[in-house]
Amino acid sequence: MTSSWSPSSWQHKPAAQQPEWPDEGALDRATKHLGSLPPLVFAGEARALTGQLAEVAEGNAFLLQAGDCAESFDAFSADAIRDKLKVILQMAVVLTYSTGVPVIKVGRIAGQFAKPRSSPTERVDGIDLPSFRGHMVNSIVPTAAARTPDPDRLVQAYHQSAATLNLLRAFTKGGFADLSRVHQWNQQFVAASPEGRRYDRVADHIDRALRFMAACGINTESQPNLHEVDFFTSHEALILGYEEALTRQDSLTGKWYDCSAHMLWIGERSRQLDGAHVEFLRGVDNPLGVKIGATATVDEVLALCEALNPERVPGRLTLISRMGAGKIADALPPLLAAVRDAGHPVVWACDPMHGNTFTSDTGRKTRDFDAVLTEIAGFFAAHWAEGTWPGGVHIELTGDDVTECIGGGEALGHADLDDRYETICDPRLNGKQSIDLAFQVAELLDRR
Ligand code: PEP
Ligand code: CO
Repeated sequence: MTSSWSPSSWQHKPAAQQPEWPDEGALDRATKHLGSLPPLVFAGEARALTGQLAEVAEGNAFLLQAGDCAESFDAFSADAIRDKLKVILQMAVVLTYSTGVPVIKVGRIAGQFAKPRSSPTERVDGIDLPSFRGHMVNSIVPTAAARTPDPDRLVQAYHQSAATLNLLRAFTKGGFADLSRVHQWNQQFVAASPEGRRYDRVADHIDRALRFMAACGINTESQPNLHEVDFFTSHEALILGYEEALTRQDSLTGKWYDCSAHMLWIGERSRQLDGAHVEFLRGVDNPLGVKIGATATVDEVLALCEALNPERVPGRLTLISRMGAGKIADALPPLLAAVRDAGHPVVWACDPMHGNTFTSDTGRKTRDFDAVLTEIAGFFAAHWAEGTWPGGVHIELTGDDVTECIGGGEALGHADLDDRYETICDPRLNGKQSIDLAFQVAELLDRR
């Protein structure tokens, strides 16, 4: 671990979950091209996020990390980006208004294009095909040609990330996120539901407070804190050739940053201590996440903290537990206690999605809203018992009116899943379920 690091030192370690690129020359050309393109984010922005996450680590703020399981090259539009941003802003408003705790907003967006798979191949109609690994790698269409990894997709993912970031920056800094527009983030299909009406009541209170402040001479447009929001990007740093190509040395500090996103995380399937993902990410100065499943041991988690944050910088490392509703009560507390006792200043966040996925009788991959809530409740209970801070949630959602997760206010059932099942990977909460979740999390947080 103490050996010297470079952006390519990961290449000497075993790298899990990498595609078998059929044409090394084409891969080399694509990554060289990426290496010549401008960074997507700037070192100073990544440092700012570390600073905000340090507040979370210290128990003074809450992290909301949310977005698609996998972004799609096909479902790429201004409306879809805007609607996802709207629902995340709504959730943040609910959480902030109800608890008085600042909410750090990080999207699974503008780069979340690669997926780890449990098997490298998949059998379709009696034929073994390479598994779909996300649009950064191959197509979901089940033919041998479409499933062949294509390095040009790395470049396309970069350009879609750039366009997405550009729009996010415009929305969040250009007036769309002004607090006086809090009612306008409520989409029509949400506004008509009980969750939407509950949200509108919060928005009414905020409106009233803003009118009071305006009468006192303070208006939102003259106050950057009310007129703009900080919105950060993140994705799983899975395809290491892509991440290496976007890694740059900061001229100000001399440190290395992976400029493909503000925050990068390591998935449950690629967090081997002596593996390539840990090797690559230990050397970049971005804030990092690591997924922690129910089988993770105390020794493993402490070793990951040492490897990825030896200097114990608060905000540098977020541990994202994803254990399953039935396992968290047993599996999480020993880890919380060990990390606390070792003095590692981590952010703990709860991903209540990936431990609760199952296949419905109709063959659709789904999640039950109740199980999602049960895991979050278990996460809070474990933290209150250990005296640690339940720092945040990590959610797969969309702003759209999809039917991918069962349960929630509308009591979506298995038979409803076929109506609007649009995800290219895991099932996401829809707009209503997401707002509902935010209210429930706010109630749990308020019990502190
Ligand atoms: C994901 O976040 O989409 C994912 C694959 O998670 P995990 O690594 O926790 O399974
Ligand atoms: Co997922």
